[in-house]
Amino acid sequence: MLDPVQIQLQPLGKTFTLARGAALADLLFSQGVEFPCGGRGRCRGCRVRVRAGLLPPTPEDERLLSAAELTQGWRLGCRAVAAGDLTLELAQWETAILSDDAPFEFTPQAGWGMAIDLGTTTVVAQLLDLRTGQVRGVKTALNAQARHGADIMSRVQFGLAPEGLRALTRLIREQLGAMVEELVTAAGLPETELASVVVVGNTVMHHLFGGLDPKPLAYYPFEPERDGWLEFGAQELGWRHCPKAKVRFLPCLGGFVGSDILSGILATGMHRSRQLEVLLDLGTNGEIVVGNAEKLLCASTAAGPAFEGARISMGMRAASGAIAEVTVGAGKPRCRVLGGADPRGICGSGLVDAVAAGLELGEVLGSGRLARKHEPWILLPPVQLTQSDVRELQLAKGAIAAGLRVLLERWGAQIADVRKVHLAGAFGNYIRRSSARRIGLLAFEPELVFPAGNTALRGAKIALFQAGDGRCEEIRKRCRQVPLGADAHFQDLYCEAMAFPEAGSR
Ligand code: FES
Repeated sequence: MLDPVQIQLQPLGKTFTLARGAALADLLFSQGVEFPCGGRGRCRGCRVRVRAGLLPPTPEDERLLSAAELTQGWRLGCRAVAAGDLTLELAQWETAILSDDAPFEFTPQAGWGMAIDLGTTTVVAQLLDLRTGQVRGVKTALNAQARHGADIMSRVQFGLAPEGLRALTRLIREQLGAMVEELVTAAGLPETELASVVVVGNTVMHHLFGGLDPKPLAYYPFEPERDGWLEFGAQELGWRHCPKAKVRFLPCLGGFVGSDILSGILATGMHRSRQLEVLLDLGTNGEIVVGNAEKLLCASTAAGPAFEGARISMGMRAASGAIAEVTVGAGKPRCRVLGGADPRGICGSGLVDAVAAGLELGEVLGSGRLARKHEPWILLPPVQLTQSDVRELQLAKGAIAAGLRVLLERWGAQIADVRKVHLAGAFGNYIRRSSARRIGLLAFEPELVFPAGNTALRGAKIALFQAGDGRCEEIRKRCRQVPLGADAHFQDLYCEAMAFPEAGSR
């Protein structure tokens, strides 16, 4: 390299050498920085902070970042170039990735298998000894496609052009192939030992992994042309390391209800239950399943990214410096900050808590208005809650609460008939049930609500032990998708569900 510069990344403590003038985007992405708008310089989501060295602001930095932020050293990672030696801080984008170690039922069989939960943001792979059901290796990563957009709709947009689709398909196949190879190698397995790989994911991941045109997912009625099983030989995917492996992507349940939810049903066993159960996966797209052994109904609702701390003025992931818990003590909010660090922002669980606390303290009114009009509510300086933050949460929780009510009505049941609620995913693990109830997100008695962990990955492991399609097809036949987008009743309930319940009315 002719003119090298050193780029040190904190808190990773790693140093990289780049050619002077090279773009930093590839390096930052490989180290976990996400590019929510696909690196187009429109969203601020890729911010990094210069701790040492000089990184002059670009025109996009000046347009999107305030004068104070620029002075503090904030820059857009997607536009930055390695002008000289630099130390950059990436702390706000540390990502918690949920694996799974919950027990599950299986019938021992010969060989080895791999279960993969392919999420829009993160990927988790587990290598299993099928004789014992033991997990013999785990690998997690950010989804390599995330550099082309953080959410599923921007991924779909990118995939509308044939070259975009080819790029996304290649990226994810290569990434999963590399994860499989690393796990098999680390376990010391001969490469012919891996017999089966099961992948689960949402409908968009299903299409992009399979190389299927995502166009039907971009327009109403958002129905996939093909939503069934995808099966490949490992070699067809370019995975040279396990030539005998059969790779199956489990089928979707509907337009925006993918095999991650089918897998969640398998993992919770709600399709065999006699009592009425609910499975909820709270993310940008909230997925809801209501049912039991008699019948199952499912739906997907666009909740927006508030539960993930995005589009919130001081929102961040659940990383060091994030307010993750807010309670009320002596008439004031009491905040718990992750990592014992100085407060820097608020994550999804903290936001739900903060609004619940604000309702108790009279800082947030039932309509969602902040009590001191036009003034943000200071939680723990410098972290504050603005009016639009509360509105974002209202949109998210209103969509989930209304979707749930529609499904229950169609099922012929009421909230009081539900005996168990499974909260899937990372957010479900951290959210405080009492706060979720206080803001009207989950109107269930807290003792009926259970964090269920990564049900998608657990379901994929269960599917590894099933050679045929039987159990998945049984669920698909019995699970009907209810489209919410065009449902007038859903829209009415949505508006109603945006308000916060009165204290004591839950
Ligand atoms: S501004 Fe959106 S990724 Fe950089």
